[in-house]
Amino acid sequence: MIREQAQSIDLSVPAHQAAEPTAWIEQLQNQLLELEYALIPEGLHVMGQAPTREQRLGTLKVMADAMGLTAAQNATLMEALVDGASEAQLSAQFSTELNASDKAQAETLRQLVRSNRLLGEDHEMQGLMRALDGRYLQPAPGGDLIRNANVLPTGRNLHGLDPFRMPSAFAVRDGMRQADKLLARYQQDHQALPETVAMVLWGTDNLKTEGSPMAQALALMGAAPRFDSYGRLAGAQLIPLAELGRPRIDVVITLSGIFRDLLPMQIRLLAEAAFLAANADEPVEQNFVRQHALAYLAEHEGSTMECAALRVFGNTEGAYGANVNHLIDSSCWENENELGDAFTQRKGFAYGREGRPVRNTSVLQSALASVSLTYQNLDSVELGVTSIDTYFDTLGGISRAVLQAKHQRDGNAAEAPPVFIGDQTQGDGVVRSLTEQVALETRSRMLNPKWHESMLQHGYEGVRQIEAHLTNTMGWSATTGQVQPWVYQQLAQTFVLDPAMRERMAQLNPTASAKVANRLLEATRRQYWQPDAETMSALLRAGEELEDRLEGIQEGLPA
Ligand code: BEZ
Ligand code: MG
Repeated sequence: MIREQAQSIDLSVPAHQAAEPTAWIEQLQNQLLELEYALIPEGLHVMGQAPTREQRLGTLKVMADAMGLTAAQNATLMEALVDGASEAQLSAQFSTELNASDKAQAETLRQLVRSNRLLGEDHEMQGLMRALDGRYLQPAPGGDLIRNANVLPTGRNLHGLDPFRMPSAFAVRDGMRQADKLLARYQQDHQALPETVAMVLWGTDNLKTEGSPMAQALALMGAAPRFDSYGRLAGAQLIPLAELGRPRIDVVITLSGIFRDLLPMQIRLLAEAAFLAANADEPVEQNFVRQHALAYLAEHEGSTMECAALRVFGNTEGAYGANVNHLIDSSCWENENELGDAFTQRKGFAYGREGRPVRNTSVLQSALASVSLTYQNLDSVELGVTSIDTYFDTLGGISRAVLQAKHQRDGNAAEAPPVFIGDQTQGDGVVRSLTEQVALETRSRMLNPKWHESMLQHGYEGVRQIEAHLTNTMGWSATTGQVQPWVYQQLAQTFVLDPAMRERMAQLNPTASAKVANRLLEATRRQYWQPDAETMSALLRAGEELEDRLEGIQEGLPA
């Protein structure tokens, strides 16, 4: 019965019924808990509008959890907190739950009381008006409230980083742990280490974490930053193999335009790390960077080690993005290969130790052909991989480019690389496959009334957000082929085939509603899901009805 129920709601079920299903049942329980614990943003942020009491309660609970306050499990305590109790009142009222002599706990309580007060006030409209008047704004840290309560009050002037101190000592250590997690996850599925990881680096997630993603790239290569006697970033150094305890993994890094603009010293750091690894006098089976660089030199007469060791790629100066998102949005493409080509065209500029971009398709193609997996971090619950079109533009784009580079080298038998997400939004972080990540986001957000009802509260824009999530989901299908068909079936049922929901959405935003239906039809045409005949004809009818409405034709109304 458990098996049947899990199957009926598209949870993953083993193909064969084991005699002893305990392991699977445990897995299922973990899957359900992951869904239950997923954090869900409620609607969009509205400037000048403070969160409701319930929203404040939800946020403060997550903050208290992240701060390690176990007493936060106590519902009455959290209610008292949001209702404005002071630290002294809380300590007195909850003396059994709280430990009066625990200094760290007292500080946590102080932070939570302060956060509750600041969350209830509006500082943003004021801040915006001051900025527009060209007046002074207090500087403040930016980033995720769950990671850092000092982000409050918002409405101040965000400052991001000290470029001489990134990656920080903490990020270097965290980078090693997250890199180990990624390697362990890959080994669990493939019984071997990956030779090459294609990693996407953005600017914002590095700013919010003092450089954890870039430190992960260094850790994979077995490298670390080097600082001068003033503590300023001076370059890269290699961690000795004996200390590293595993081979150096090759890493092809693609940068966002924002990373390129904000972090020029870190670009040179990464390029130097790859160069040092390629030149290290080490056995090639212990150093995949060197192994691949030597192979490139052997195949390309007249090339140099400087060139063969190029591993940092991005747009040229002044250009942003891979344009894969624009192709998907406009539907102006025939074959998935156009998407991979757009990516390599845009991101084919190599950044060497000098930090200046030079187009180098040859090294990029060669490095991409050796990629075992593609990978990007997710840094904040505010955005998932289906919330904005830039995740599939960068990580999806490179995944498709890898498949095409493999086709070119090995012929059509070459397989798509597995795609992984390092979810750093809660706790110690967890590595998920893209398939798992899209399933989790679809269940906890798109299909979840708590999420889509909050979106629909925004009216016109809420419907557009729902349409954008669907389009982004199709962007993942187009670039990776790793979205399960049930995702489309359930989205179709929830937003198009349910007459009441369809009517509501069409009232709020007829254009985006028609786009939702058309995108689902496009997904069938492109073979990302194959609905049964009944679903298909209902979808076609609904799509026509929505189009008619756009053109001003409504059934039952006089012409
Ligand atoms: C970045 O921080 O690099 C970035 C942010 C949003 C979209 C794309 C890139
Ligand atoms: Mg259109």
